[in-house]
Amino acid sequence: MQSNLENLKIEIQNALKNTSCLQDVIDLKGKYLSKKGPINELTQHLKNLPVEDKKEFGKLLNGLKTEVNSLFDEKINYYNTLALNQKLAAESIDVTLPATKISVGAPSILEHLIEEVEEVFMSMGYDVVDGPEIEEDKYNFELLNIPKGHPARDAQDTFYIEDEKILLRSQTSPVQIRTMLASTNKEPIRMICPGKTYRRDADDATHSHQFMQIEGLLVDKNISLSDLKGTFDVIAKKLFGENTKTRFRPSYYQFTEPSVETDISCFSCQGKGCSLCKNTGWITVSGAGMVHPNVLKNCGYDPKEYSGFAFGFGAERLAMLKYGISDCRVFYQTDLREVKTFDRREEAK
Ligand code: DAH
Repeated sequence: MQSNLENLKIEIQNALKNTSCLQDVIDLKGKYLSKKGPINELTQHLKNLPVEDKKEFGKLLNGLKTEVNSLFDEKINYYNTLALNQKLAAESIDVTLPATKISVGAPSILEHLIEEVEEVFMSMGYDVVDGPEIEEDKYNFELLNIPKGHPARDAQDTFYIEDEKILLRSQTSPVQIRTMLASTNKEPIRMICPGKTYRRDADDATHSHQFMQIEGLLVDKNISLSDLKGTFDVIAKKLFGENTKTRFRPSYYQFTEPSVETDISCFSCQGKGCSLCKNTGWITVSGAGMVHPNVLKNCGYDPKEYSGFAFGFGAERLAMLKYGISDCRVFYQTDLREVKTFDRREEAK
């Protein structure tokens, strides 16, 4: 009897060895442990044994049942673990595969330039201020000493919104007026204002009906043209390199007296003459001058006590020069290919 049990165990062990998948084990389990299986048959047989053998055989049979059950459990566990490992291996992430490309934007070129200019001015104690793009005639022209009938007010140049009173500002200079008027105690001022401006221009490579200017104003006691020259010198060197030279040429604006055009030495040919500077060796970057006494007076500053200088850069022009861009439409058409190559050029610096 005992050897029968032993043989059965060996038979099951061998059968389990020959399984190749979980289903094989389940089938075997059905075969050996079902009601009609050999183990149950032995249990039935137990009932017919004489009492003295029953105890002994019952013990052995129970021992076999426990062992066989754990043999099956072990094998089932083995196949389950195997399947799980295979699944994990199949689902594992291949880090060498190329990633899905996520399309991202890039910082605006103009914004980049303006931030750079702002930083230079802020390091010299200037505030960065803002002003409205929809402006009143009195700030855009009148108080800037631009009288009625002046060609700059021509409807062909300016976008008027309501009669001749409300307009899209054609320059950032009205922010000078607003800043001076807002100063209750008529204190010294140092400010720049980068912002959008509008003119009725046909868009082409060097013109845009909407463009950006960076206005600047300094008002204090004893300010002279040499302060403007010194300030401009610092800015030019910071933006275009330490070897940059500067010069002023006489010009005319209604709100400054005297007025100048500010030039920098051509950074492309170092003043020798090239296509960028049209063979002059110089590049004009802004209009500027000493604030006209009438403008100071209009804003409540006594011109006998106070003087000041003002300037206006064309932001697109600065960016085009600085980054070698030949068409200003690039700034507004948001062609990411162009913006991104610019970004890479900047990063590479
Ligand atoms: N507002 C002028 C323009 O749009 C630029 C300018 C010139 C601004 C001289 C100034 C200045 O503040 O002093 O052409």
